[in-house]
Amino acid sequence: MEKTFAIIKPDAVAAGYSGKIIDRIEKEGFKIVAMKKIWMTKKMAEGFYAVHKDKPFFNDLTTFMSSGPSIVMILEKENAIADWRKLMGATNPANAEEGTLRKEFGKNIDNNAVHGSDAPETAAQETRYFFADIEMV
Ligand code: CMP
Repeated sequence: MEKTFAIIKPDAVAAGYSGKIIDRIEKEGFKIVAMKKIWMTKKMAEGFYAVHKDKPFFNDLTTFMSSGPSIVMILEKENAIADWRKLMGATNPANAEEGTLRKEFGKNIDNNAVHGSDAPETAAQETRYFFADIEMV
């Protein structure tokens, strides 16, 4: 079994899509190993997205991610990393396939509803950033 790290971003939480997204996660066979609602500070968002610190969108991204509550989760299933990325759809909702979460709930490349780790190393690193062992069940 593989684990991945996921976020329901502030746009989707504010729009009231959390329940629909969580329902979809469970219907697609993911087990929710950990979940909590948090309001990231700008500093937390900057640390989390440090890999993008030199990108032109870094300030907008970290301002958006600290603009309201998010839901952070650890999801488990076989091929969790790839399957969660497939369920999310393309980063830009305009390019996301029908049936994906970003197509249904994303507005644009900045407000794209959900995040997911891209590899086992980043999944472990992102998980550690937000969760202690005692929070994983
Ligand atoms: P996410 O999967 O959370 O990872 C980084 C985020 O940066 C991405 O989703 C987008 O919401 C945001 N972003 C904004 N502009 C870009 C861009 N040009 N390329 C990639 N990601 C971008």
